[in-house]
Amino acid sequence: MEHIIEVNHLRKVYGETVAVEDVSFNVRQGEIFGIVGPNGAGKTTTIESIIGLRKPDGGSVQVLGIEPQKQPRELSNRIGIQLQQAAIPERLKVWEALDLYASFYDRTVPWQPLIEEWGLADKRNTPFGKLSGGQQQRLFIALALLNDPEIVFLDELTTGLDPQARRATWDLVRAIRDQNKTVVLITHFMDEVQALADRVAIIDNGRLIALDTPQALVADLGAETRVHFSLQNGFDANVLQDVEGVTAVSQQNRQVNIQGNGPLLANIATALSKYNIAPSDLSVEQANLEDVFLALTGRAIRA
Ligand SMILES: Nc1ncnc2c1ncn2[C@@H]1O[C@H](COP(=O)(O)OP(=O)(O)O)[C@@H](O)[C@H]1O
Ligand SMILES: [Mg+2]
Repeated sequence: MEHIIEVNHLRKVYGETVAVEDVSFNVRQGEIFGIVGPNGAGKTTTIESIIGLRKPDGGSVQVLGIEPQKQPRELSNRIGIQLQQAAIPERLKVWEALDLYASFYDRTVPWQPLIEEWGLADKRNTPFGKLSGGQQQRLFIALALLNDPEIVFLDELTTGLDPQARRATWDLVRAIRDQNKTVVLITHFMDEVQALADRVAIIDNGRLIALDTPQALVADLGAETRVHFSLQNGFDANVLQDVEGVTAVSQQNRQVNIQGNGPLLANIATALSKYNIAPSDLSVEQANLEDVFLALTGRAIRA
């Protein structure tokens, strides 16, 4: 698959602070590429170096075959950016923001269909400050798509949104990719890259510490799956020891906890139905990217 972004040994320092150190990765055409890590890890600096806003102190970057520092105009015409620090004056109306951003590019798509597509058509005369959080995010997306870009960079798109608006925004990110655009998604939310990204770069203290699909990163942990349920009647859960994949069964009062590998939930459910037991609270707990981060760094990402 074609690499449309190539980052090699990127380094960026601010005075005494080494913000990014020896970061290398490629982004493939058409994927959602996640960059995740705690606050201060160097994610925004990495992205700002890729889009030409910051001059790297070491290493090299190529985007769509362009060197950002050499041809900034060519690059900005072909990429869309929603920046973490993006500030739109409170009183600027939606249509005014679109007009203003359109003036930054050599070529743009008409913005009327764009705001219809992103559910902002009836907000065109509304000042930015009067939009809801979700509407502001949709406007940022529309602005990032004004020049019909080949790559869209989204930096902390869902920060500050409530859980419901975050989920709605995830659908928008998928919708961008479905328009044949490559998406680079920068976030400190592990669940976000887990749900959305085809591949994930985990960054910590300015360094790339892991890069793979979310599934492979979790599988590499070798962590066991846990299945829980509670018993309605006198059933000896120890008979489940013999179910395929099960490595441990424990029981506390009515609560049963099972550990194991493979399609554990399916295997346990099948076994229970053989005993005519249908627990209403059968649940599964699998390792996720939070566990991956913990295993790699010894710290929880939210710390
Ligand atoms: N303009 C700047 N001047 C000085 N230090 C900065 C600047 N921007 C970021 N930093 C520092 O660089 C490091 C990485 O920051 P940043 O790239 O914003 O991380 P992230 O986006 O992962 O939160 C942090 O230690 C931050 O304080
Ligand atoms: Mg940031």
